[in-house]
Amino acid sequence: MSELLSLANEFRPPAFPGSYFISFEGIEGAGKSTQIIKAKEYLENQGHRVLVLREPGGTPFGEKLRQAILNSKNDIHPVAELHLFASSRAQLLEEVTLRELNTPGTVIIYDRYIDSTIAYQGKARGLGTKSILQTHSTFPLTLVPHKTFYLKIDPETSQSRQKMRNAPKDYFERKGLDFYKKLVEGYEEVTHLFPTRVVTIDADRSIDNVFHDIKIGLDQLISQSVGVHE
Ligand code: TYD
Repeated sequence: MSELLSLANEFRPPAFPGSYFISFEGIEGAGKSTQIIKAKEYLENQGHRVLVLREPGGTPFGEKLRQAILNSKNDIHPVAELHLFASSRAQLLEEVTLRELNTPGTVIIYDRYIDSTIAYQGKARGLGTKSILQTHSTFPLTLVPHKTFYLKIDPETSQSRQKMRNAPKDYFERKGLDFYKKLVEGYEEVTHLFPTRVVTIDADRSIDNVFHDIKIGLDQLISQSVGVHE
């Protein structure tokens, strides 16, 4: 773990005064999309310019990779998966995120980022956390958000929420309960590797209760940073 911790310590949030980079994480059915909409509205009401970006995707190139992965009917080798996600990520950072953060007062909200890769490719697909961190050791992949909200639900809750939705399953949604159990273990490791960045939120509660905790995290982030830049 200590080797992993020292690798994790090399990751840094981008330094753009007055702008913030935030991400949301969690397994399928955790309610990320709903909470992202609420966070965007909350921050906009405070006068921030908010952009929501998804991974994989967010650029024309990234969206092509997204289709290639999520629509794949055949198993993709985990190493190939890792590099596809990292490719989409590097492109989005370069083409959109870094440029947009340059305008003070901007908040970029990512729907998934590197912690998904640690949980999905590192833990559930078996590549190991070290290999994920090492693959991200070159700029701009060394950037991490200022704050990450990990919406935590049980694998069983995830499966039953997916069944209720009754929508066609994508590449990862077709994996079974054991896969989801490993994802939760992967996210657990993420919270140990990045204890100040990642806030765990119990997402097996009402939408308003979950958002109440997210709001506390957002307020803390923004008030702390105001102090730093004054
Ligand atoms: P998406 O439909 O965006 O999932 P969700 O609505 O649950 O966020 O599909 C993205 C899928 O890709 C999701 O199953 C998680 C997976 N993924 C990885 O395996 N590794 C990654 O690095 C990222 C960003 C996503």
